[in-house]
Amino acid sequence: KKNEEYLCAADIVNRRDCGFLGISAQECYTRNCCWDSDQNNLNAPFCFLKQHQCKGYGVKGVQESDTGLSIDLELIGGPTGCARFGKDAARLTVVVDFETESRVRVKVLDKDTARYEIPTEALPSTASTIRRVDSRGYSFKYTESPFTFSVTRVSDGQVVFDSSVTGMDSLVYEDGYLEISSVLPADANIYGLGEVVTSFRRDTRGTRQTMWARDAPTPVDENLYGSHPFHLEMRDGSAHGVFLRNSNGMDVILTPNKITYKVIGGIFDFTVFVGPSPSDVINQYTEVIGRPHMPPAWAMGFHQSRYGYKNIDDVNSVVSRYKQENLPLDGVWIDIDYMDSFKDFSFDETRFPKAEVRALAENLDANNQSMILIVDPGIPILPGYEPYETGMANDVFIKTLTGKPIEGRVWPGQTYFPDFLNTNETWAFWQGELGKTRDDLGDNVYPWIDMNEPSNFCNGACTQNAPNANQVVKRDDAQPPVNLKYSINNAGNQAPLDQKTLAENAVHKNGLRLTDTHNMYGHMEAQATHHALLQLKPDTRPFILTRSTFAGTGAFAAHWTGDNWSQWNHLYFSIPGILSFGLFGIPFAGSDICGFNGDTTEELCLRWHQLGALYPFSRNHNDIHSVDQEPYIWPDTVLPATRQALQIRYSLLPYYYTLFDRAHRTGQPVWQPLFFQYPQDTLSLKIDKQFLLGDAIMVSPALYQGQIQVKSYFPGTGRWFDFTTHQCIMETDTSNNTTDPSGDRPNRYLFLPAKMGTDAIPMSIAGGHVIPIQNPQLTVAATRLQPLSLIIALDKDGNAQGELYVDDGTSVQNLNQARISWELNKGEQLVSHAALQWPSASLKGGVASGDLKGMTAAQAQDFRANLGHGDKIEKVVVMGLNFGRFGGEKDIDGPIPTA
Ligand code: NOJ
Repeated sequence: KKNEEYLCAADIVNRRDCGFLGISAQECYTRNCCWDSDQNNLNAPFCFLKQHQCKGYGVKGVQESDTGLSIDLELIGGPTGCARFGKDAARLTVVVDFETESRVRVKVLDKDTARYEIPTEALPSTASTIRRVDSRGYSFKYTESPFTFSVTRVSDGQVVFDSSVTGMDSLVYEDGYLEISSVLPADANIYGLGEVVTSFRRDTRGTRQTMWARDAPTPVDENLYGSHPFHLEMRDGSAHGVFLRNSNGMDVILTPNKITYKVIGGIFDFTVFVGPSPSDVINQYTEVIGRPHMPPAWAMGFHQSRYGYKNIDDVNSVVSRYKQENLPLDGVWIDIDYMDSFKDFSFDETRFPKAEVRALAENLDANNQSMILIVDPGIPILPGYEPYETGMANDVFIKTLTGKPIEGRVWPGQTYFPDFLNTNETWAFWQGELGKTRDDLGDNVYPWIDMNEPSNFCNGACTQNAPNANQVVKRDDAQPPVNLKYSINNAGNQAPLDQKTLAENAVHKNGLRLTDTHNMYGHMEAQATHHALLQLKPDTRPFILTRSTFAGTGAFAAHWTGDNWSQWNHLYFSIPGILSFGLFGIPFAGSDICGFNGDTTEELCLRWHQLGALYPFSRNHNDIHSVDQEPYIWPDTVLPATRQALQIRYSLLPYYYTLFDRAHRTGQPVWQPLFFQYPQDTLSLKIDKQFLLGDAIMVSPALYQGQIQVKSYFPGTGRWFDFTTHQCIMETDTSNNTTDPSGDRPNRYLFLPAKMGTDAIPMSIAGGHVIPIQNPQLTVAATRLQPLSLIIALDKDGNAQGELYVDDGTSVQNLNQARISWELNKGEQLVSHAALQWPSASLKGGVASGDLKGMTAAQAQDFRANLGHGDKIEKVVVMGLNFGRFGGEKDIDGPIPTA
């Protein structure tokens, strides 16, 4: 009976049909197949083939130490094993490492044959963060026959990983196929696993998240540019996380009650993080993969880009128009249009003469703005073209098995691809080429690295003879593809791994194959680029935008969500996209404002600027085939709305800067899902149309055509103030917790005004916070010179706290920095505006403390003066001074009278 249960327990998404449309249960049983019509996914067959059970591995010996265990396993039932998709490893070793108080690593190795593991240079940070402790927040248990393991959080007894899933193989470890599952509660709250366009909370009724870096115009629910085998789960108000350190292709399958990993290479190497808060989990995860980099201040401003600017004059007029219209602008982007025949590091001397591009770069620099130029990885195969010659001379390209560089095709035609895993020759080559751009244009020019999945216009490889760029041609290296019998769900239809990318049998100089490293190509390019920029201009923070990412890329680059669509649903998708990248340690993320593919509309573009102005990375970018979408294209509507939205963004720059600093130190995302601050609020678990900007501000954007108000949910316990009117608009406590029959809390919603042309994007401030702001100017640099003001939103006890981080905005060393915190304590009134001096004076009833690291008093004075803050706070807005319910009416706006 038990066996029968197992045989019929195939994943919904993996059921192989045994019937026909309309087959009955009886007919199905007579075919000796399994029947299950009781499930949510109508795409899965009701009548399906039985599966065979593998017996798994049994424990042969265990060595225990203070820091972990080493467990020897042997295949149960002789050498045949499961033979699911390859030959089973006969003997395994499980290495359990209690790395810190909150994370445990479980690595399953083939005892007899070395398998591919991610090289340490690709994910450098783990070793240095191991912190042995006596008391651990988790316990590790295992069963002997078959071997299964579990990780339990000690504080509440939650079993956060458990591979003994009823009806599933406990562990499959074959050549080219690994499988393991872990138990999930019913209707689990799973977030992460990407890159994908979908809701933030993942559907556990049959989701197959494939990871195989892929250039595709953002189809919903398919594998895309980046690969992040990490998820966070919320269970009973607590969070844990699971990271599978593996860069091979895989499907991660969510079905009711379990998560299943099906991986086509490498090893199993899990790290489990026990939280228990969501922020703790991301802190713990980014400690392993590398903390997000601290961006230069200017990069937190607004960016304008387009594919299809016709010439340098086009770009020049965009820059002047921004100024003329009083629109803030910090980054000016040029796409492949600037290149001569799309060759990297070259200029089209007719349309984008180098001298004129340089003149623009110099103008921008003089105005404290920056230029960003696209750079693709493919180097055209053109004798006499310097990057090609240098690359060949230094042997920097990825090769076929026959030892010649593998040939693909991208914008410039036939190309070779730099081998970024070669940290010697290739990194030096890359630095040299990027250095030439800096020589040509000055050093205030930054790279945008695109097409780095890597994208290829042919499948696998192609030669010059192939008839046209979009035609699929056969591989020319006479090597068969690596024979993998399990097909991951590439492109949603089990497409070959080399579809629109390089052949997976290509090899790196260090002998590794692309089949193993494909998902890290963009990550390694980002790392090489980051390294190069630091070499070229030491102690200046690099800025890089990358399309393809892997676990840890946030340490080196920002990310945008790729070729989205000028459609309303993609305005929404940008929120789950950015929230997910926050979990992946890449908080500096954004989507193309107004959409890339297709033509935007006036209303969509207006709404998109309102939301996009608040993206951590905020850029309007467009496709060559689409209508213009700079904000001034619609002077009466989109233009004023964007100006207002960008003024909000620029006024919040001190707050953003502080959030990015926190992200850099702790991994904490800049945009957070509501449950990060309100983990006990079960309704917030499903919300991804609202989000938190930092801890203090909740944003509820209009996401639908024709919308005039937004129904916004207010989580947690406490007061909420309107960002614009400063009125207390909601007080959440137990009195408005009443649920309706569907489990919703009708009294927790407000309809916030969002009329086009009148209302700014709805933003609410949570009581208890102090938010530093500045008067918005047209650049980040100019804004930074403005005096500081504070928005203080008191909670109902009259308390509030907040932080400010300041430094010079550009340096890596950050010797001159200050971290200030304000704390207003219970019930005491603010009486003196002058008392709000920074950094040493104290707020009446609270403290402000600042620390100018490594400076004498005189230096500190200079430093503050240069920041433009002077040494006092210009203006204070206090909300909620009257502590009663809805006590916001008498808020103080402007200087507070002295006592
Ligand atoms: C693809 C990128 O995703 C897009 O942003 C860019 O405009 C085009 N490549 C052209 O370079």
